[in-house]
Amino acid sequence: MTAALIDGKAHAAALRGRVAQAVAGLHETHGLQPGLAVVLVGDDPASEVYVRSKAKMTVAAGMLSFQHRLPADTPEADLLALVARLNADPEVHGILVQLPLPGHMNAEAVINAIEPAKDVDGFHISNVGRLGTGQKAMVPCTPLGCLLMLRDHLGDLSGQEAVVVGRSNIVGKPMAQLLLAADCTVTLAHSRTRDLPAVCRRADILVAAVGRPEMIGAGWVKPGATVIDVGINRVERDGARVLVGDVDFAAVAGVAGAITPVPGGVGPMTIACLLANTVTAAARAAGLPDPEGLGAI
Ligand code: GUN
Repeated sequence: MTAALIDGKAHAAALRGRVAQAVAGLHETHGLQPGLAVVLVGDDPASEVYVRSKAKMTVAAGMLSFQHRLPADTPEADLLALVARLNADPEVHGILVQLPLPGHMNAEAVINAIEPAKDVDGFHISNVGRLGTGQKAMVPCTPLGCLLMLRDHLGDLSGQEAVVVGRSNIVGKPMAQLLLAADCTVTLAHSRTRDLPAVCRRADILVAAVGRPEMIGAGWVKPGATVIDVGINRVERDGARVLVGDVDFAAVAGVAGAITPVPGGVGPMTIACLLANTVTAAARAAGLPDPEGLGAI
């Protein structure tokens, strides 16, 4: 391996430290304690794990954590009524409705019912539009985490060739917007892109968010490039179930200049960014300036 390792766990711990500091500051100066409400519908075991871990870290950072668990067959109207109550609750500064929702619910309608200022996922149509037009926004946590690690590692990103592979609303599209706002030259590539390996080889910054295990090999990467692997894929390897990214780590680490591992790369940063967004939302709700170092835009 010749690439430097971008340690997501260390970046996340540092960001959580800045979050805790900002929380303590808001409490001391304004008696304000940021609060995050997480709503889980149904009993998807993976979502359970995420929600528990979010609650633990929220409390550890000195914030209030509210959890709402609803059965899988909850009518959509009941979920919308809960969202309306949380929108009106002054103790709640951030609202996250865990996705995916059960099939009978319209996820778009639920997300767009969240008060945009409390939309710490940055999924509301208003925040998507604000990010795209350079206005103050809540930014989706996973791409925000990627951007913060890139900035820490590379400094100014201006003029860099960035290629994002994957065009999801949650990662690919907002990642492209953030890189564009950072003055990169951005290509948003996807499954229909012609000669995808050649497009990826142009990248100084390559972000993989496709959900295909180890798709990106050594021949897809320009020597010295910075590679951010958003993929979390569960695969069988020698009879054991293991986590791998969208990047063939062992191969690409011999070509790239720097690379995030899976696990321990982007994943830990996502939850840290959720906490950061909640603190930003609380400060903005009180009419205060954005706390420093939390990546707010
Ligand atoms: N499910 C998996 N990732 C996410 C996320 O970032 N936000 C929400 N709301 N649900 C998710």
